[in-house]
Amino acid sequence: MENHFNKPMFHSDELKEKVIVVTGGGSGLGKSMTRYFLKLGAKVVISSRNIDKLKATASELEKETGGKVLPVQCDVRDYEQVEKMVANTIAAFGKVDGLVNNAAGNFISPTERLSAHAFDTIIDIVLKGSKNCTLALGKHWIDIKQKSATVLNIVTTYAFTGSAYVVPSATAKAGVLAMTRSLAVEWAKYGIRMNAVAPGPFPTKGAWDRLLPGDLKEKFDVTKKVPLRRVGDHQELANLAAYLMSDFSAYINGEVITIDGGEWLQGAGEFNMLEKIPPELWDMLEAMIKGKGK
Ligand code: HXC
Ligand code: NAP
Repeated sequence: MENHFNKPMFHSDELKEKVIVVTGGGSGLGKSMTRYFLKLGAKVVISSRNIDKLKATASELEKETGGKVLPVQCDVRDYEQVEKMVANTIAAFGKVDGLVNNAAGNFISPTERLSAHAFDTIIDIVLKGSKNCTLALGKHWIDIKQKSATVLNIVTTYAFTGSAYVVPSATAKAGVLAMTRSLAVEWAKYGIRMNAVAPGPFPTKGAWDRLLPGDLKEKFDVTKKVPLRRVGDHQELANLAAYLMSDFSAYINGEVITIDGGEWLQGAGEFNMLEKIPPELWDMLEAMIKGKGK
């Protein structure tokens, strides 16, 4: 059977009339999700620090999809800028239905080499930034008694496993996951759903330049860490995000959906290294084990 993993899942106007804010929407996975939301009829606000990049992405995606994109400069670390971004969104589109907390900062480093400021920088972008956007929009939705709204937090699998050498990011993403589950309960009475996705490796320039710099890309074949032996395709993540932002997922709340080809489980299972044993060796091993009982 042909594999359709890189094909769009929805085909018409499943996000029509929805206004969605995507932080970090000018590049990488944020841009890919934005492209698909537009194709499905949403109006999208993309925000980050670099307004030139946002404008270029907005005009590229508007041409490609015929949709409407508003680029807004906003450093998610600064609550006042986030409040202004929300005000700009409402001024342009009249309302907001969804938020994708996608903006992030990260780099690999032994933790003891980090300055306190370096650690703070990642916590501030990832945890404080997601908190700022969620709080500003949550207050707004509750104030105006909006019937339904959705927040999608982009975390990663080490939010629950932890990971060496990206400790500030792991710490911050774990906090975002705790916020997702906590507010899923607390704000459900206001019609606000909160979910998360935990992607495994999806090649983007932002992540690859910082997590696999120089020839690390050649030295570490990331596909070997994945049972399905491939990296993720951006459309696969966009399909999942579109579903979680749509009304089709209206009963999903407080969930974190892993999309990693089984990567974190391969690293976790006690005996998963036995995958390396060739079939012919199993006869010998079986005989040895059975022999022990006699
Ligand atoms: C040690 C570092 C460092 C490094 C920066 N710092 N890079 N320390 N090793 N490689 C220190 C600096 O010296 C400084 O501390 C502090 O961090 C802040 O650095 P700035 O450059 O001033 O910060 P800023 O301009 O705010 O930039 C933030 C950034 C940058 C995170 C450092 O990389 C960035 O803009 N990133 C955004 C995009 C991004 O990271 N995308 C990847 C997401 S990937 P001092 O003490 O000297 O002042 C991702 C994937 C997860 O999250 C899972 C994958 C499977
Ligand atoms: P990316 O292209 O570098 O995306 C990060 C975005 O965040 C950029 O557009 C950046 O834009 C924005 N950003 C950074 N600091 C910001 C700030 N202070 N305020 C506002 N925006 C800020 O990398 P990506 O791979 O697409 O990552 C997207 C998301 O997926 C992140 O949450 C990441 O943790 C997650 N993720 C990625 C992978 C992967 O394999 N790629 C795996 C797991 C999880 P500016 O520089 O213009 O501000």
